[in-house]
Amino acid sequence: MILVTGGAGYIGSHNVLALIEAGYEVVIFDSLEIGHVEFVETLKNIQAKGKVVDFIKGDLQNLSQIKSVFEKYKIDAVVHFAAYSQVAESVKNPQKYYYNNVYGTLNLLNAMLENDVKRIVFSSTAATYGEPVYVPIDEKHPQTPINTYGKTKLMIESIMDDYDNAYGLKSVRLRYFNVAGADSQSRIGEWHDPETHLIPNILKSTFGQGRVFQMFGDDYDTKDGTCVRDYINVEDLALAHVLALKYLENGGETNYFNLGTQNGNSVKEVFSCCEKVTGQNIPVEICPRRQGDPAVLIADNNKAQDVLNWMPQKSLEESVCSSYNWESKLEKIIN
Ligand code: UFG
Repeated sequence: MILVTGGAGYIGSHNVLALIEAGYEVVIFDSLEIGHVEFVETLKNIQAKGKVVDFIKGDLQNLSQIKSVFEKYKIDAVVHFAAYSQVAESVKNPQKYYYNNVYGTLNLLNAMLENDVKRIVFSSTAATYGEPVYVPIDEKHPQTPINTYGKTKLMIESIMDDYDNAYGLKSVRLRYFNVAGADSQSRIGEWHDPETHLIPNILKSTFGQGRVFQMFGDDYDTKDGTCVRDYINVEDLALAHVLALKYLENGGETNYFNLGTQNGNSVKEVFSCCEKVTGQNIPVEICPRRQGDPAVLIADNNKAQDVLNWMPQKSLEESVCSSYNWESKLEKIIN
C-alpha cells in the first residue's frame, strides 16, 4: 500500500492516477485546503490495475492524524506532495511555510519511522537551486534558494539525508522544473485559486469576461526578452515518480533527480503556442517584471535518464492542448 500525501492536488492527483495505472493500491491523505474532493471522487472511480483504497482528510501538522493512517493501513512506501508552493506568499508569510512544509514533513517522517516505513519519494523543486549559476542546471548545481518556499524544500532534503544516515530512511527527491498540462482524458487537471502559473493564466484569457493575460516583463536578457522555463508535462512527471518508487523497492540508495525536458521556452513562445492550439488571438498586456523571477531555468535531466531510465515524451504543444481541454471543462465546473 502506497500513501500519497497531497494526492488531491494538481501534481499529487496525476501521480495517484499513474500509480493506480501501474497496479499500486493507494491511500490518499490530503487536507483539501488546496486539493479537491472532486479529484478524489474521480480517482476512486477509475478502473485500473490498481486502485484508490481510501481517502483520509487530514493535516500533516496534526501528528495524531497522520499516525492514525499508519495504524489503519500497512504502508510500504510514501509519495509526499502535501505542501504550500506559492513563492511570493512564502516570502510574505514564512511561518505558514515552515510549519506546514517542514514541520508537517517531520511529523510524516516520525509516523513512518515509528511504523518502520523506510521509503519515501519527495516532491522537491528547482527552486532549491535559486538563481542559476549555469544552465542547464544539473544536480551538482549549488543549492542556494532565494525564497522561503525553496528553503523549506531544501531543508526537507537535508533532513532526509540525516534520517538516512541515522535511521536508514531511503528517499528519492525529485526536483521539478515547470510542471504543465493535464490528464490526457481531462479527468483531472490544474485547479488553483488563485492561479499564478503561466499556461493556465494564458488559457483562462481565452474565455472572455474581460480577462487579459499579463506578461510579466519583456526586457530580460533572453532570446526575445521574456523569461525562459523548462515545461515538463505532468503525466511524464508522474511516471518519474513510479520509476523512483520502483528504484527504492529494488534497494536503491537515497538519491535526487531533476525532472525537466532540457528544452527552454520563453513566455512569448508559450503564448504563441497557446494561440496556435486555441486558434484565438489572446488578449495580452505587458506588465513589469514579477519579483524573484530568474531569467532562465532549464534542467539537465541526464541523471534521471541514466539512473531511473526516465525519458519525458510530451511536447509543450501537447501540454498546452491537454491544459486547454481541462481548462474548458473547469470553466463549466466553476461557473
Ligand atoms: N508569468 C507571466 N504571467 C502570469 C504567470 C506567469 O508572465 O500570469 C511568467 C512568469 O513571470 C515566469 C513564467 O511565466 O517568467 C513562469 O511562471 P510560473 O509562475 O508559471 O512558474 P515559475 O517559473 O515562477 O515557478 C514554478 C513553480 C514554482 C517553482 C518554480 C521552480 O510554480 O513552484 O517553478 O522553477 F518553485
